[in-house]
Amino acid sequence: MVWRFILVLIFAHTQQVIGCYESIFSFGDSLTDTGNLLLASPAHNLPHFAKPPYGETFFHRPTGRCSDGRLIIDFIAGFLGLPLIHPYLETTDPRQSVNFAIVGATALDDEFFQARNIHIPYTNISLGIQLGWFKDKLLSLCPTFSNCNELFNSSLFLMGEIGGNDYGYPFFQGRSLEEIRTYVPPVIHAIASAITELIELGAVTLMVPGKLPTGCSASYLTLFKTPNIEDYDPVTGCLNWLNEFAEYHNEQLKTELNRIRELYPHTNIIYADYYNAAMRIYRSPNKFGFKRGALTACCGGGGPYNYNSSVECGNLPATSCDDPSLYVSWDGLHLTEAAYKWIANGLLEEPYTFPPLNASCISADLSTAGYSSGM
Ligand SMILES: *[C@@H]1O[C@H](CO)[C@@H](O)[C@H](O)[C@H]1NC(C)=O
Ligand SMILES: *[C@@H]1O[C@H](CO)[C@@H](O)[C@H](O)[C@H]1NC(C)=O
Ligand SMILES: *[C@@H]1O[C@H](CO)[C@@H](O)[C@H](O)[C@H]1NC(C)=O
Ligand SMILES: *[C@@H]1O[C@H](CO)[C@@H](O)[C@H](O)[C@H]1NC(C)=O
Repeated sequence: MVWRFILVLIFAHTQQVIGCYESIFSFGDSLTDTGNLLLASPAHNLPHFAKPPYGETFFHRPTGRCSDGRLIIDFIAGFLGLPLIHPYLETTDPRQSVNFAIVGATALDDEFFQARNIHIPYTNISLGIQLGWFKDKLLSLCPTFSNCNELFNSSLFLMGEIGGNDYGYPFFQGRSLEEIRTYVPPVIHAIASAITELIELGAVTLMVPGKLPTGCSASYLTLFKTPNIEDYDPVTGCLNWLNEFAEYHNEQLKTELNRIRELYPHTNIIYADYYNAAMRIYRSPNKFGFKRGALTACCGGGGPYNYNSSVECGNLPATSCDDPSLYVSWDGLHLTEAAYKWIANGLLEEPYTFPPLNASCISADLSTAGYSSGM
């Protein structure tokens, strides 16, 4: 017993040194972009999220994040004891974490959508192009192979969320659910290819988020508003068929991750269940402090969910609420910092990460850093 106790102590001590992450590399879209699209935009044609009230809660200025404050990735960095992650397009110390995610990105390349006559606004920096950015960066991050091995072993790769726009653009351009369901296999394939490529390069720990509950998004609730009451979940008010679609994507993704785990047993592939981490909030928003409900956007152009696609948050005549922390939805498409914080907190607990994050990697000063769940 005594020996076992001592061994556990020694083991726990070494874990803190070896097991944890020194950097994060992330890929994805507006759920994760910490400034890339803003940096890519010409000064005379800034996107709406480059304007107040974006960023008002935490940064007190727009940073290119599509929220009032921090995103899930900012909280993940925090609870791993790492600083905020710089966007790739900002020139920084090459030894830091790098975020390749960019607003509007799709998992599939532009050609897929061009062939189907679907317009891709914002950016053509798909997941594959982000991976190319990573490979370019790698040359400066680790000039020698042994260097690279060390880097890969001590890095967490956040693969997404990505895929939301591959479905979102066609939905908003009037394509049918039947058609869009056929996009799921190629989207999953694109995500799997990116994961496999990173593993072949040396990545060991990857976190792969699933989709959020699309049917609870103010933008989709507005687009697909119907008098048909059976279409709505009586508890949450979310659209069932859209949530079923999100779950369909997530199930396919999880199946694919199992396949990759079998092919590469030395890797640690963590599924991050954004869907269910968010659903618990939609089921009981009051319990989480969201007194204005979970479905209406804080910032928007009016309408039943305060979302109007032609009046984007940041542009007149859109208006914003006084206290975003009382809302789950920030601008109808993205969530508030308060909601992202709850989702990130969920990732520290089972069952929202599978397998769970190694507890010895969670920063000891979590409670003082304001990341503790408090529930
Ligand atoms: C946690 O990290 C330590 C140190 O690297 C490792 O030995 C251990 O296997 C990890 N635990 C899990 C569950 O992955
Ligand atoms: C992306 O779009 C830009 C112009 O917006 C164009 O110059 C570039 O060639 C495109 N890249 C790809 C890979 O399609
Ligand atoms: C990195 O991890 C791999 C397998 O997980 C191991 O073979 C290799 O020795 C490690 N390299 C370093 C530098 O820790
Ligand atoms: C959206 O905003 C535009 C411009 O203010 C307005 O003309 C339109 O009626 C609004 N749409 C809805 C559904 O409220």
